Amino acid sequence: TGKRVLVAGVADDNGFGWAIAKAFAEAGANVCVATWPPALNIFLNLLERGKLDDSRQMPDGSMLTFERIYPLDAVYDNLESTPADIRENKRYKELGDFTIDGLAARLVADFGEQPLDIVFHSLANGPEVKKPLLEVSRAGYLAASSASAYSLVSMVQRLGPLMRPGGAVCSLTYMASERAIPGYGGGMSSAKAQLESDTRVLAFEAGRKWGVRVNTISAGPYASRAASAIGIIDTMVKYCAANSPLPEELSAREVGTTAAFLCSPLASAITGSTVYVDKGYHSMGMAV
Ligand code: NAI
Repeated sequence: TGKRVLVAGVADDNGFGWAIAKAFAEAGANVCVATWPPALNIFLNLLERGKLDDSRQMPDGSMLTFERIYPLDAVYDNLESTPADIRENKRYKELGDFTIDGLAARLVADFGEQPLDIVFHSLANGPEVKKPLLEVSRAGYLAASSASAYSLVSMVQRLGPLMRPGGAVCSLTYMASERAIPGYGGGMSSAKAQLESDTRVLAFEAGRKWGVRVNTISAGPYASRAASAIGIIDTMVKYCAANSPLPEELSAREVGTTAAFLCSPLASAITGSTVYVDKGYHSMGMAV
């Protein structure tokens, strides 16, 4: 209650980010979100025109509201190192500083020196996700890594100093990091392996430096907008539901409530962990 959360990677009500933001709001937190510039206008329009009002309904009858909606492209650390064609792109040029440095500066300007308790990284991007690793270009592989893994490192570097003691950082990963999942291509599996490894090292460094915990949630498949780009997400969802200890589809809310728990004092001894929220699928060794 009364804590401030930043959820990065919310652009509609279909993904994990939305459900996570809502779970934090239900727990009494003030929620700021950060949205990818190419998706920002559509998201703001949907909110303004009331298209998300059903999803904004909270159990207590109130409506989910965001304290701030910041532009963020997590591939860029500061404006000086951002290519001119991005800075001058029509979706970016009116937004001010949309980089991770810019986000940190806005948070301080809006809320003071230590504005944050919780940072949730709910974003990923792999431009060649449909290509098997055997066909991925160097540029595609590095782009997946930059957007999906280094973005977390950069966010912890820049937002860690802004976090109050007892703070927590969390992200979302997928089991393709440790087992071969056909169809999860583009170097996204590699990026998730980095994200999980970085979670352990960041937990150590941020724990010692700021007393901040760092964890990641390994979620089961879910048909968000990003996942639909994989092409076979419906097959993955059905396969997991059929072959898990709990034979049902994962809901985004279940990931949201785990996020709220992991970032709360109830989880004060959990850091450096990859926590499965997948109906137990990870524990199986044979299809049913
Ligand atoms: P989503 O489409 O709701 O969320 C991804 C968000 O990342 C979008 O809002 C997109 O605009 C944003 N984004 C992309 N590139 C960005 C950039 N450079 N800077 C800032 N934002 C950027 O999809 P979903 O599935 O909810 O994804 C959230 C996280 O969950 C991702 O890390 C994803 O890999 C992970 N995950 C998803 C699973 C699934 O089956 N949907 C399973 C396990 C993990």
